[in-house]
Amino acid sequence: MSAFPLSVFDAVAPLRAQVAAWRAVGDRIVLVPTMGALHAGHLALVAQARAIGDRVVASIFVNPTQFGPNEDFLRYPRDTASDLALLAEAGVDAAYLPDAAVMYPAGFSTRIAVDGVSEGLCGGFRPGHFSGVATVVTKLINQAQPDVALFGEKDFQQLQVIRRAMRDLDIPVLIEGVPTLREADGLALSSRNRYLTPEERARAPRLHAVLTRIAAGLNAGEPAEALVAEGRTVLEAAGFGPIQYLEIRDAGSLAPVSDLRTGPVRILAAAYLGATRLIDNVAAG
Ligand code: PAF
Repeated sequence: MSAFPLSVFDAVAPLRAQVAAWRAVGDRIVLVPTMGALHAGHLALVAQARAIGDRVVASIFVNPTQFGPNEDFLRYPRDTASDLALLAEAGVDAAYLPDAAVMYPAGFSTRIAVDGVSEGLCGGFRPGHFSGVATVVTKLINQAQPDVALFGEKDFQQLQVIRRAMRDLDIPVLIEGVPTLREADGLALSSRNRYLTPEERARAPRLHAVLTRIAAGLNAGEPAEALVAEGRTVLEAAGFGPIQYLEIRDAGSLAPVSDLRTGPVRILAAAYLGATRLIDNVAAG
């Protein structure tokens, strides 16, 4: 438990006043933006925030503008009471729960579009998604004014999009990625895992197994094309489909690459298992 109780804010001015008071006494403030439905992966972000900062602000906002018309915005899991209990127990100092009217008041008409890193991968299948993410994260960071903001590496393209946007817009915040937390069998923790049937849940870890096999192969000098083809075959045999992408990208720019000669890479995938879309990524090089 934190030495201080969790304060809950739903408006910008009081949140900023609290953060300013903390900063005035020299505290380093870390923001953990979330969409709620908190699991151990989010709590790992909070633990990292506590390790590197003096005060932790966690936001919960299910951002409508990052969901496509046929995506799961309406059925996205929401459980504010349980989320607040978890945040309090994890030692968060302030929870920020703006509603849609605070984030997008009448007349709201600004959007941030990040070229390059947001193209392809998830960006190719979720038009407008990263613009929605970049816009809401920019707002959350301007509202809370943290020194550091933490994001999970599970959404690796999101992390790179946010880094790019903050750099390009000279927003004075440090963006840090936190390694993906996994179940014992390798499945990346995700709020969407609760959509999986028990039978799908049993097959889901195959996605991580395929990515780690490709990473090991690349590290051993095996050709990328054969590794990716083998990975697709394994995923299809395990019942995944459609496989939206299974790709090797430069770890920083996310430009397509086929070996480790230009530096560290990331192997990224998105695939459906039944009605659930799973994403994951691992590093190589
Ligand atoms: O990763 C998420 O939970 C969301 O995309 C984020 C960063 C909170 C923006 O809504």
